[in-house]
Amino acid sequence: MKKLILILSISLILFGCSTTTPNEPSTPSPEDNSEVETELLELTLEELAEFDGKDGRKAYVAVDGDIYDVTGNRKWLNGEHEQGMTAGKDLSEFISSAPHGKDILKQFTIVGKLVE
Ligand code: HEM
Repeated sequence: MKKLILILSISLILFGCSTTTPNEPSTPSPEDNSEVETELLELTLEELAEFDGKDGRKAYVAVDGDIYDVTGNRKWLNGEHEQGMTAGKDLSEFISSAPHGKDILKQFTIVGKLVE
């Protein structure tokens, strides 16, 4: 009889433990990206060159170490801009010759950092 009580007690404890998981975090669904942080890319100049906006590739440009996504902008179609400027490059030293200045960058998303 003692043995039976012991077995019953152990079963109750185990059963109790296995069902008390109300605070377990739920796996986020692909649609719910509210808590997903977008990680910044780290690209070298060589890697950045691949984002030239050609043949459906993304168009990224770097200025002062930040990489901006200019894909789809009407002034960056196929990665081509004014005065021979093209995507996939570090344009830091050329932007001072542009008629618009660096404020124009505010409308674009920073997607990464330029690294050595
Ligand atoms: C590096 C990042 C750059 C970005 C994100 C950028 C973006 C833009 C955008 C959005 C416009 C259209 C402005 C508008 O019509 O409202 C524009 C115009 C222009 N950009 Fe840039 N640009 C960049 C660099 C440069 C550089 C390096 C040059 C030249 C050295 C340049 C030369 C020009 C010129 C000539 C225009 C036309 C201005 C006009 O139509 O009056 N841009 N740019």
